Amino acid sequence: MQLESLSWFPGHMTKTRRMITAEIGSMDAVCEIVDARIPLSSRNPDLDELTAGKPRVVALNRVDQADPNMTKRWAAWFRAQGCAVIEVDAKSGAGVKQFAPAVRTLLSEKIAAYEAKGQVGRILRVMVLGIPNVGKSTFINKVSGRKVAKAEDRPGVTRGKQWVPVDKTLELLDTPGILWPKFEDVDVGIRLAFTGAIRDEVVDIEELAMKLMDYLGAHYPDALTERYKITVEDGEDGWALVEKAGRKRGFLISGGEVDTERMSRILLDEFRGGKLGRFTLETPPEDANA
Ligand code: G4P
Repeated sequence: MQLESLSWFPGHMTKTRRMITAEIGSMDAVCEIVDARIPLSSRNPDLDELTAGKPRVVALNRVDQADPNMTKRWAAWFRAQGCAVIEVDAKSGAGVKQFAPAVRTLLSEKIAAYEAKGQVGRILRVMVLGIPNVGKSTFINKVSGRKVAKAEDRPGVTRGKQWVPVDKTLELLDTPGILWPKFEDVDVGIRLAFTGAIRDEVVDIEELAMKLMDYLGAHYPDALTERYKITVEDGEDGWALVEKAGRKRGFLISGGEVDTERMSRILLDEFRGGKLGRFTLETPPEDANA
């Protein structure tokens, strides 16, 4: 699902809010799925308020595409915020087995309290939330081991909220409605566009590629050397690197100028396709010098 195809209008948000608010009271915990490459930009800014202090498991998804060292740092950061954290590649299923134990550890006091009241084996309920394209359906399918239809709330689609069993005493709630990212923040929009969560028709390809090169040049210069056989010199900005890479690839137009648009498309395609390597595009807030 592409973000820009959704209708970001207040009515829609109100509806989603209402659905979450109506169900949250009967939940034991919330599972927030984020994109490990952009763990903050892929969050919903109102989740804390909407989930009213419920215990939270953060699933850092797409770890297969993220920088493994940064994933460790992000996991530590989320833990420091009081969340349980699992590192997952929902597509292959790697890491999903950690989910049920993570929930039970997180809720151990609550489980003990249920048992003290004689409610042994009481079913734990977890609401799964995530912005579009983060991998929510893939995650639910892998964790539950079944093919679950998407909970949707669109004209002509009547599937509403659905319960998805994980095991005998653990159930997921998948709600329809669309959880929005912090789309009023330009940098958030750009990071979502880097990952392909926003379709390229709505962004300027060359500007996007330049910004991506800026980041890669500053944080992952070796990957650029490896893939494009270019070296990153001090003070060289993203635009210079796009031109350099394009020239190296022989993407020239009349007059010997570099076809920067072609190079920009190639860069974004190769980045998203994992051909450049695994990258994380945000650092945890306290990592000032990262
Ligand atoms: P959503 O419900 O949150 O909107 O997302 P969905 O599960 O539909 O996933 C969006 C796309 O991201 C899918 O790719 C899915 O396979 C992919 N994806 C989800 N989790 C991961 C992950 O951990 N790693 C990687 N590499 N990809 C992931 P698609 O191309 O739209 O579909 P498909 O052809 O892969 O099925």
